[in-house]
Amino acid sequence: MTRQRPVNSKFRPGFRIVVLISGRGTNLAAIIDAVAAGALPVELAAVVSNEPHALGIELARHAGHEVTIVRHRDFSDREHFEAALAEAIDRHNPDLVVLAGFMRILTGGFVQRYRGRLVNIHPSLLPELPGLDTHARAIAAGAEMHGATVHFVTEELDGGPIIAQAQVPVLADDDPDTLAARVLEHEHVLLPRTLAWFATRRVSLDGNRVLIDGTPALSHPLDR
Ligand code: GAR
Repeated sequence: MTRQRPVNSKFRPGFRIVVLISGRGTNLAAIIDAVAAGALPVELAAVVSNEPHALGIELARHAGHEVTIVRHRDFSDREHFEAALAEAIDRHNPDLVVLAGFMRILTGGFVQRYRGRLVNIHPSLLPELPGLDTHARAIAAGAEMHGATVHFVTEELDGGPIIAQAQVPVLADDDPDTLAARVLEHEHVLLPRTLAWFATRRVSLDGNRVLIDGTPALSHPLDR
């Protein structure tokens, strides 16, 4: 279904995002707060959860956002689940789909459908530590620096082009929980700021390279 826009030469279409979650939704809350504070010029068109009891569902509804639940367990295989997921997303005609703690691995077909329009936040300094348990693994590896990354999603797990990162030092007395909590605080800044770059059309993809205002992404400090 095509969304109707008002016919008005001064009308500048808004930047629409759909956010996918699986759990507590603190990154989603950071997005909602940034939009409310006027720091993130996007329209949060909808939230989709694959977990019917995800805590993020209530906070989204409480803030007045539509939530669709697409339970992966209701489908016989990934293809059928992803077809339903795509339908739930496409109904809202988003410019960008944001994985904010969405914990399902997506197949190549789904990723291709949203190529250049699908981003994820991951709790490590990619390409270091893709996958799960990143905080415990950072400590076990004796890493001095840890952090979070926002990246485009490709077929390779946590392997797509990097858009922005936040670095967090690992402290001598950190355990996985204290480190996770500190990284999460940075995620809550990193994700809305990165989405604001998209909303103001500053991000582009040159093959596999991310450009911000036409220059390579990782040469850009976060506070630009
Ligand atoms: C966040 O730390 C996010 O980076 C991580 O899940 C957490 C979700 O928290 N994502 C991944 O590990 C994806 N591979 P939240 O539900 O409170 O936003």
